[in-house]
Amino acid sequence: MRDRLRALEPDFWRAPSAHNTQPWTLTYAGDEAVIGWDPSRALPISDPTGRDLRLSLGAFVECCLIVCADAGLSVGFRPDPGPGRAGVLHAAARPYATPFRTADVRDRGTNRGAYHPGRLPDGLVAELAGVRRLACRDLADLLYAADLHQFADRDVTRELRAWLRLTRRHRRYLLDGLTDRALALGRAEAAGLRASLALYPALRPLGLPRALAAASRGLLDHDGDVLVLVGPVEDELGMGRVLMRHWLTLSRHGYAAHPLSQIIDCDPTRRELAGRLGIADPRTLLHVARVGRPVAPAARSARTRA
Ligand SMILES: Cc1cc2nc3c(=O)[nH]c(=O)nc-3n(C[C@H](O)[C@H](O)[C@H](O)COP(=O)(O)O)c2cc1C
Repeated sequence: MRDRLRALEPDFWRAPSAHNTQPWTLTYAGDEAVIGWDPSRALPISDPTGRDLRLSLGAFVECCLIVCADAGLSVGFRPDPGPGRAGVLHAAARPYATPFRTADVRDRGTNRGAYHPGRLPDGLVAELAGVRRLACRDLADLLYAADLHQFADRDVTRELRAWLRLTRRHRRYLLDGLTDRALALGRAEAAGLRASLALYPALRPLGLPRALAAASRGLLDHDGDVLVLVGPVEDELGMGRVLMRHWLTLSRHGYAAHPLSQIIDCDPTRRELAGRLGIADPRTLLHVARVGRPVAPAARSARTRA
């Protein structure tokens, strides 16, 4: 099985991860493969609880199972959390039952560009378990507050900068992280962002966080939807699998997602969002994304395995 799984790794690696860190590892042992993560690819500053790490690992598990099933391999997943590990891919009696194919995994992508105006059909939202929907404009104030909070934090900004690849000359441009093209930035915008982040310590007291937050101010000022994934904090890995299925469902219908995790990374905006949704425990808000029909396709994100 090891050789067959190894051959499928480039498709497993199409799973999404926060900052495109691709934190997962696959360690083969006999007929099994342990799914773990590389601590040097976690985000200890911006994801201190490991929520996005576990969601990303869950998305990876789901991708592995879908891709194996499409290749006719009978592979299952057994959660087995421990230090640096999430669980095990093992031989199963039959292939994983899923409506999705490898082609769906390849076709999905985050799209941070413009979306056509309009809300998602009710029937489609009803298919997405654990999802609450809000109008984009109703969250514009929270996005600005969260962006300001994020960019005012030196350490969060430094960690983000380490995963930005804003010029094609970056040595990891084709491997991981967030490229200028994935962020839908033009050449001048990318150069401006690079320069301002390089000068962050000097420019921070002069209002750089405000300028950076202002750049995404218009993002939710349109007729569209934001989806919030709500679920048990103790099963973030399982919810990552759910999130992956949601993104594949949306993608099959011609929709794309643009996550806005900063809204739930920042305590005050997370509490405010929970209040607006009438949810008692803000920790159960696991993911937030703008969703819509993109005006143009997104650039394909980089991967270490291709
Ligand atoms: C748990 C999680 C959180 C994410 N948070 C954000 C976010 O806050 N902002 C953003 O632009 N993208 C976010 N993303 C999207 C990733 O940056 C994206 O999946 C990664 O760059 C790979 O690109 P792809 O989705 O096009 O394959 C998130 C993805 C995951 C799985």
